[in-house]
Amino acid sequence: MQTSAPGKIILFGEHAVVYGFPAIAAPVSSLRTYAAIRPNPPGQSGLRIVLPTAVDTLVITREALDESLALTVDKTLKVLSASEPDVTIEITSTIPIASGLGSGAAVAAALSRAICMALDRSIDNDTLNELVYEIERIHHGQPSGIDNTVIIYEQTIYFVRGQPIERFQVGAPLHILIADTGQAASTKVTVRAVRDLYESDPQHTQQIFQIIGDIVEQARYLAAFGEIERLGALMTANHDLLRQLTVSSDSLDRLVETAIRAGAYGAKLSGGGRGGNMIALVPADRLDDIHAALLKAGAVRVIATSIQ
Ligand code: PMV
Repeated sequence: MQTSAPGKIILFGEHAVVYGFPAIAAPVSSLRTYAAIRPNPPGQSGLRIVLPTAVDTLVITREALDESLALTVDKTLKVLSASEPDVTIEITSTIPIASGLGSGAAVAAALSRAICMALDRSIDNDTLNELVYEIERIHHGQPSGIDNTVIIYEQTIYFVRGQPIERFQVGAPLHILIADTGQAASTKVTVRAVRDLYESDPQHTQQIFQIIGDIVEQARYLAAFGEIERLGALMTANHDLLRQLTVSSDSLDRLVETAIRAGAYGAKLSGGGRGGNMIALVPADRLDDIHAALLKAGAVRVIATSIQ
């Protein structure tokens, strides 16, 4: 028996989303965290959580993980008014840690679902979403809620903090490459850096957020009409604004430039930034070439995904 939750990418609007502007995010179903439920070994009792290497080689601190796991267990049991199940839950993950792909929210979602399954109970997605949002606060400080929402509902969403989610419609498939800089990055740190920028120059920073928000609105419109080329240009424009918010890095900029030079419609960092992953919107017939170019430019891993 096992449960799972996907990874995610942010197509447009990260950071500004924390300040109430819209953003668009998509699940990456091929990257997942799994929580397998097994009987306890002889002589062991209570709830045991096992973290094999994929999650154990954490770049975020062990303390943060322990805290978030403990809190996930406590909050799930509280919602169910239940006591802990007598099982071992083994967590494995193919979502790289601390790289803007939502691993923290996926671990919490998969673990909470596994506890429910072990108790033969269930929690509806709205309640799980609130629960995982609380866990996200440990990783992010002041999360917008976009990560937990896209991961739990597992659908591409147009998201505005505090508002009901809307499905993001595409008029033609979006082919996306996700390239990993291999550099771990803390979302908490980048969210803090943007906050510092905002506090030191509120007017200018607010203007950048506003332009990002406008890009998101245009992207939503262009995607619905299958205007992929123009959508790509918006992606690159969004990246430039994220650079102005100081959350890009040399490796992210290099991968973005490489993708565009190799024929991508556009590219940007995805997630908190200063490391982690970038995404490129690519023509289907250029997928292999751009994939190879990103690896040659230093990406440690490149994954293809599509949004239909
Ligand atoms: O978890 P990450 O690195 O994908 O970042 C989430 C997106 C941010 O906008 C940077 C933070 C947030 O809470 O929305």
